[in-house]
Amino acid sequence: PKPSLAKAWQGQLLIGAAVDEKNIKTQGTLIAEQFNSVVAENAMKPMATEPREGEFHFEAADAIVHFAQSHDMAIRGHTLLWHLHTPDWMWQGTNGQPADRNLVLARLKRHIETEVGRYKGQVYVWDVVNEIIDEKQPDCLRDDKWHQVVGPDYVDYAFRYAHAADPAARLFINEYSTEAPAKQRCLIRVVQGLLQRGVPVNGIGHQMHISVFYPTVAAIDETLTAFARLGLENQITELDMSLYRWKDNHLYDTRENLLALQARRYGEIMRMIHNHPDVTAVTWWGVTDAGTWLNQDAPSDHRDQPLLFDAQGQPKGAFWAVFAAA
Ligand code: XIL
Repeated sequence: PKPSLAKAWQGQLLIGAAVDEKNIKTQGTLIAEQFNSVVAENAMKPMATEPREGEFHFEAADAIVHFAQSHDMAIRGHTLLWHLHTPDWMWQGTNGQPADRNLVLARLKRHIETEVGRYKGQVYVWDVVNEIIDEKQPDCLRDDKWHQVVGPDYVDYAFRYAHAADPAARLFINEYSTEAPAKQRCLIRVVQGLLQRGVPVNGIGHQMHISVFYPTVAAIDETLTAFARLGLENQITELDMSLYRWKDNHLYDTRENLLALQARRYGEIMRMIHNHPDVTAVTWWGVTDAGTWLNQDAPSDHRDQPLLFDAQGQPKGAFWAVFAAA
């Protein structure tokens, strides 16, 4: 039988990939063979599902849900609220006036009810809010339109609306750079507030857009422990490992060496996760290096290779390291 990551890790972790309506067709066999969980890379984001008020588009999301179900895969929902992906109509009121708090909350409620309700019992975990933390703000929350128009309790409302729409779905805060100390302290503070107010939050999604040199495996380990201590579930939600990020590594090292380092580090991370029953799923942000978002604006001589399969869909050293770590 063909080696399968999902099978190798079965019973310990869900092994997931971010997909879109195209690659479930062109790479459907590979995806279904290697992964037992999917998340929509873009298709379930607010601008995609409700581009105009009350006008819902679920064709792409439905195709992904249908693909997952026909292959017995779990489905993560990403995401119900994200400042970078909120359509402009959210902030427009009548007569050219800006929308007020009550109108925005009513719109948020309808958006969440409609989307979570549609996939009730099918999407098992939702990234309710995405990237809301800003450690430079006094209350640790990003100074975005949500905060400006509604106030800090927009987070509570988002979770409560999602819980009402599907009481069985697990509800997550999804965030990047959770290992950075000031950011982590802020995230902990925000989550503790939610828990104290009885807001139904179940877990933390750690995006993990990391590089071959940063952060250390120990820092990731300690981060997971910090949130497990609060009684929360952890998931790694958007894993990729850049060869370049934060450093032009390729200027003083060969691609071959960087890829070997990448494989070793992927193995170390996955072995560390064995000690974390609090981690229930690891999702890669893409399938092959040909499709990574990191190359969306990259010049052709600076292609990144952060994922487990190369541009031709062949397993890389990184794949074998993750496989062997199971
Ligand atoms: C990215 C997608 O990969 C891109 O295709 C899109 O252009 C922008 O969004 N953090 C997140 C993800 O939570 O939703 C982002 O996905 C990557 C960063």
